[in-house]
Amino acid sequence: MSKSKLGTCKTPNQSALAWVEEMTKLCQPDRIFWCDGSEQENQMLCELMVQSGTLTKLNEKLRPGSYLACSHPSDVARVEDRTFICAKFKDEVGPTNNWADPTEMKKTLLGLFNGSMKGRTMYVIPFAMGPLDSPICKIGIEISDSPYVVVNMRIMTRMGQAVLDKLGADGRFIPCLHSIGAPLKPGQKDIAWPCEPDPQKKYIVHFPDEPSIWSYGSGYGGNALLGKKCLALRIASVVAKKEGWMAEHMLILCLTSPRGKKHYLAAAFPSACGKTNLAMMRPTLPGWKATCLGDDIAWIRVGQDGRLYAMNPETGFFGVAPGTSKKSNPNAVDTFAKNSIFTNVALTSDGDVWWEDSGIPAPAKAIDWEGREWTPGNGRKAAHPNSRFTAPASQCPVIDPDWQNPEGVPLSAILFGGRRPSTIPLVNEAFNWEHGVFLGSACGSETTAAALGQAGVLRRDPFAMLPFCGYNMADYFAHWLSFAQRAGRSKLPKVYFVNWFRKDGNGKWLWPGYGDNSRVLKWICERVEGAAKAQETPIGNLPTPDGLDLSGLNLPGEDLKQLLSVDVAGWKKEADDIASYYMRFGDNLPDALSQQLDGLRERLG
Ligand code: GTP
Ligand code: SPV
Ligand code: MN
Repeated sequence: MSKSKLGTCKTPNQSALAWVEEMTKLCQPDRIFWCDGSEQENQMLCELMVQSGTLTKLNEKLRPGSYLACSHPSDVARVEDRTFICAKFKDEVGPTNNWADPTEMKKTLLGLFNGSMKGRTMYVIPFAMGPLDSPICKIGIEISDSPYVVVNMRIMTRMGQAVLDKLGADGRFIPCLHSIGAPLKPGQKDIAWPCEPDPQKKYIVHFPDEPSIWSYGSGYGGNALLGKKCLALRIASVVAKKEGWMAEHMLILCLTSPRGKKHYLAAAFPSACGKTNLAMMRPTLPGWKATCLGDDIAWIRVGQDGRLYAMNPETGFFGVAPGTSKKSNPNAVDTFAKNSIFTNVALTSDGDVWWEDSGIPAPAKAIDWEGREWTPGNGRKAAHPNSRFTAPASQCPVIDPDWQNPEGVPLSAILFGGRRPSTIPLVNEAFNWEHGVFLGSACGSETTAAALGQAGVLRRDPFAMLPFCGYNMADYFAHWLSFAQRAGRSKLPKVYFVNWFRKDGNGKWLWPGYGDNSRVLKWICERVEGAAKAQETPIGNLPTPDGLDLSGLNLPGEDLKQLLSVDVAGWKKEADDIASYYMRFGDNLPDALSQQLDGLRERLG
């Protein structure tokens, strides 16, 4: 632990010092604070935020070292329509990203950041994504006027003096400038969650050519914790394309069979579609064990042996609270038992937190996330649907011993998935790598509360990367295809598409999900080993009716049939929809994918 005086941690790195000085002149904060990441510093910042009303300290007996933050009602999720990739040319970012001319955008941002930190403290947050000794570790420095960002970054990244030590005098870092966009006039009283309330004045901006990140107006999650979506996905995806690796919106888990055979799997599901839950699942199948390496981001590279190796660049979980219970995700519940930050959930009268579907009966009264008195049945939700917990990965009871291995872990399989109430079966195996890339590119899902906008609308979200790919999605497809050459084809992971979210005619889930997803994972592991049974269908290889281990599960035969059959009419519509989606990419769409689509249509007849 650092012994430096608070706020004075040091670097000999001249370019870091020069950048901080330049940003100080621009943002004009009252004070500068260099964060060392120490426990003492964290305590001090939390106490400061309790005094300012940003945090509420939770009951120390029930939830030691933990706090609740409630945001401004305008600042509750990622803002996709205010997220920009400012490459030199519009073509480089493709049809799925918002582009703006880098020079024009810089002008706009310089105007906004000018004096944006007046009356506030500017925190300098050195952080690393990936273990410091990993060959693909990336160092960033976030400048932020939000102490909430500092304490969250401390959980989510390797943060503080150790990073500056690694940076040294000549190391390179990615500058990440963040302001909540709420300067204080002399004598002006602060509020609990200052931010820029006007959605049109929020900007989440990436300059991939520099690279640098500028984020203005929001203090929430992926908008403000710039190591996560901005650096580890949008900027990293651009770097990865150039350097021959992949930055993906994926969980990583290890499944161990009763015989002790281990398989590492990575899975890409869109936001709020089940990554955290699968990453920490407790298998219902006797003898099977699952351990967690990451729940949101995977950096994947080709190892010396030609296999794909995945590594989690983060150190914490920023997970969806509603729906998280002892029943659905007991390991998450244990992970956030202490030293955690909760955002936009309800506060109970005994000083603990509560949310919908927490498995704990609703309290007789509570304070909801908007600070109002709440009683059960009053027609409002106590917790915001995108309320979250921030918890250290090291506290997860099933954290895998290799989760910080700088080399990563070799993947046996890659899964894609989404929220699809109809058509898409429970599990479908790709015929080969190209077919797997096709399934990933065609990924569709109902939108969720993780991004501002209407929830429950079906949209294409290729590879669950629609909001996170920092360059032209068609080139990203080509990059994925290129791994058939980069890695040994025979050593590539097998690819699957899963769907835990099929509904029956009455809107009830057809599949129990959660720990019972181990039944699907078992089938996948046994397929990888060449053991489990499958039937070839027009859409891929599906389990035979007796292929899945359903022992101890009372699944009606009719439901299983629906989950594992090919809805030809539905798939024809699906193919039409994919075709019109592909049109957006024009000539940039790789031929291999149009061939895959043609093949699917032919097989469907
Ligand atoms: P981000 O952090 O936004 O990237 O999301 P995530 O993919 O990690 O989502 P998460 O695991 O937090 O799941 C979000 C919601 O999906 C929660 O409300 C869960 O209860 C629900 N969910 C997760 N797994 C299952 C499942 O197997 N079946 C059903 N029906 N719901 C699930
Ligand atoms: C997501 O939206 O995919 C998240 C949450 O993981 S946030 O970090 O806020 O983007
Ligand atoms: Mn995510």
